Amino acid sequence: MGFSSRIDSAISSAIRAGQAAPSPGKLASALHYTVTPGGARIRPTILLSVAAACGDDRPELADAAAAALELMHCASLVHDDLPCFDDADTRRGKPSVHRAFGEPLAVLTGDSLIIMAFEILARVAHLDPARAAQIMLVLTQRSGMPNGICAGQGWESEQIIDLSAYHRAKTGALFIAATQMGAVAAGQDAEPWEELGARIGEAFQVADDLRDALYDEETLGKPVGQDDLHGRPNAVTELGIDGAIGRMRDILSGAISSIPKCPGEAMLAKMVTAQAEVLTPIKWRQAQAAKIAGE
Ligand code: IPE
Ligand code: IPE
Ligand code: MG
Ligand code: MG
Repeated sequence: MGFSSRIDSAISSAIRAGQAAPSPGKLASALHYTVTPGGARIRPTILLSVAAACGDDRPELADAAAAALELMHCASLVHDDLPCFDDADTRRGKPSVHRAFGEPLAVLTGDSLIIMAFEILARVAHLDPARAAQIMLVLTQRSGMPNGICAGQGWESEQIIDLSAYHRAKTGALFIAATQMGAVAAGQDAEPWEELGARIGEAFQVADDLRDALYDEETLGKPVGQDDLHGRPNAVTELGIDGAIGRMRDILSGAISSIPKCPGEAMLAKMVTAQAEVLTPIKWRQAQAAKIAGE
């Protein structure tokens, strides 16, 4: 099975289990609505790529880790869109969860998905208790305080924001979780994989700033101009479009040099290079091609 089928199948079976009778119908529907269709599923794809590069000798553990990580990410988006955070009406091209189901059910959807993430991991823990405990620890560290997405969202309530701590916690954390959980699922230490995740996360944040500046809501499927609206610093205002593209590519080449020694090192380097293409907005690539054609 390819990575994307493995991820979809692990997520669907967790959601189905959460919808079993006698569950409350609207909350059960909201769970499905939140994860289907999914987004780019970039974090679980990186997780499975790292696991594969390290030998993937416990694929059930890697699949569970991938699903848990993606559900944590989806939960964070549901909560992030709520009126008390970004008050976003759309997500992935459709009404955000609170817009479709109301605020109480959106809060509960996020909560349920977070709990489901740990349930998925607990259910496979017997396969390798030591690895499963380590995977859970990484997920808690990268989701909570002081270094996880809760911390990232928490920075937005501060008068003075430490920009690098803010970005690292808000966006970088789940990319670090991706590389570390993938490595641990395949029996490796988490620590050497932190830098790769952090660098990919940093590049992803710059790419997100670029998308926010270059696209409209219809194309992105979520509100744009959010950084300006909330007065948050961003790579495009700091460096301009071309500068931000250059910065993203520099970060990704640094990411390639930070890949730890492992059997699939070359395959991972290719994956990171491919990410550079995926993350570079197509609008910018087209403008470059037109410029070259006109020269
Ligand atoms: C959006 O993440 C949230 C950020 C950290 C910028 P993604 O762009 O990965 O969202 P989906 O899952 O593909 O919708
Ligand atoms: C969302 O960050 C990342 C989370 C930690 C939930 P943003 O608010 O910047 O991302 P979008 O634009 O809503 O996807
Ligand atoms: Mg936000
Ligand atoms: Mg938001």
